[in-house]
Amino acid sequence: MKQSQAPLWEYLNRRRQEEHVWLHVPTHGGGAGLPSELREAFGSYARFDLTELPGCDDLFHPTGIIAAAQELAAELWKAEATYFLAGGASAGVRAMLAAVCNPGDEVLVGRNAHKSLADALVFTGAVPRYLPVESRDGLLLNVKPEAVREGLLRYPRVKAIFLTSPGYNGVAADLAAIAGMARDAGVFLLVDEAHGAHFQFATEMPQPAGPFCDLCVQSWHKTLGALTPGAVLHCHSKHVDRRRLQDALQAVQTTSPPYPLLASLDAVRRRMALYGEKVVREMLAEARKLRRVLATYLPLLSAAEVARLGFSLDETRITVLAARAGVDGLALGRLLAACKIEVEFMQPHAVLAIVGPGYRPDWTQRVAAYLQAMPPLRENKIQVPQLPAPPPARYTPREAWFLPSALAPLSGATGFVAAASLVCYPPGVPLVFPGEEITPAVVEYLLAARRAGITVHGVDGQEQVRVIAEV
Ligand SMILES: Cc1ncc(COP(=O)(O)O)c(C=O)c1O
Repeated sequence: MKQSQAPLWEYLNRRRQEEHVWLHVPTHGGGAGLPSELREAFGSYARFDLTELPGCDDLFHPTGIIAAAQELAAELWKAEATYFLAGGASAGVRAMLAAVCNPGDEVLVGRNAHKSLADALVFTGAVPRYLPVESRDGLLLNVKPEAVREGLLRYPRVKAIFLTSPGYNGVAADLAAIAGMARDAGVFLLVDEAHGAHFQFATEMPQPAGPFCDLCVQSWHKTLGALTPGAVLHCHSKHVDRRRLQDALQAVQTTSPPYPLLASLDAVRRRMALYGEKVVREMLAEARKLRRVLATYLPLLSAAEVARLGFSLDETRITVLAARAGVDGLALGRLLAACKIEVEFMQPHAVLAIVGPGYRPDWTQRVAAYLQAMPPLRENKIQVPQLPAPPPARYTPREAWFLPSALAPLSGATGFVAAASLVCYPPGVPLVFPGEEITPAVVEYLLAARRAGITVHGVDGQEQVRVIAEV
């Protein structure tokens, strides 16, 4: 099959024009059974909303159009095999770890991991050994090769290294250097590349994970314009047990994957195969224009600064360093949102804007016009403290999950052990993993984050956290 074909999309698109009698799920019958307001909004989408009918293949046992679409994706990303994910990169992260780690296996984990990794640690019983992450201006950058080297020396029995590269702000680690260490140590290199599916299409981008890792996960809805939460897992290694990987995927995914989402993955793959370089270069060109506009008013995290720190930057991620300018990033984000200019995330210290394939060039003008007329920005009065140091672990995430737990007020939680992750969302990176002690610095940080209006997963409406009950 050729990259100019999109077998899954083409089949579903053809089929939607035929009249079928729907004696199967989903029972909306291709749209007719949707509530009328949904019928109007989602009518054509519903024609693609099918199930494992003859011709439609089966995500868990693909032999037809899904298999063909996955093979084309694997060919384009030069993987041994590619698996479509209907549960986002989150599902891929869980499956990736479950594919290679047994209970008790040690894994080196960059401390900028997404919260789905905490679930993966609970699910697998793997024991995390955290690697420090460089930070600047309250932002997590990435893991340095030296940190990996030290981790491997300190924990010689690790089974795998789990890195998140790039991080949310587009800062990528030196995967080439780290891959050499992983190879020499004979350990798996697993990469959460949720934000980096576009890297291989332009040399100005950081290096893609594919040539260096055993397994990686990419969130195509985040970078390539697929439907939410379309993502993929690539297997780049002959050493991974593919049967076990497939079983792991089945354990973390729905048995009813949405076909519109799967079709979007296939169509996005075809677009990248045919025009990938153009798509990414256009994103980059537009991002650079937007950077120039923003940089007249506020400092940005730049590729040069990131390179000096030993990392590389995807410039389509534009981080406004509000704290460095002494202004309140939340106020900036809210002013922009009031004018219908929506950023990816806003926090007191930083605002993140993403330029993707859906970016319209005239939006730069709109932002420029707004910034010119914008009232002076409020000085940053809400001081969110420095990111707290990773707390000491008292239990593994899996042990912590299954121990009896109770609710405790966050303000009085110092010294207790967290039963669940505590995570500012975004960026979705746990400050505390299950089983770690809640330190004074964590409490101070989370209380300040809450006061600043940041969503914190793991803290409920009564400002309570789940802690391991004392026996
Ligand atoms: C680094 C990273 N990995 C994984 C995920 C989960 O991705 P998804 O939303 O596709 O499940 C996110 C989500 O923000 C992320 O930032």
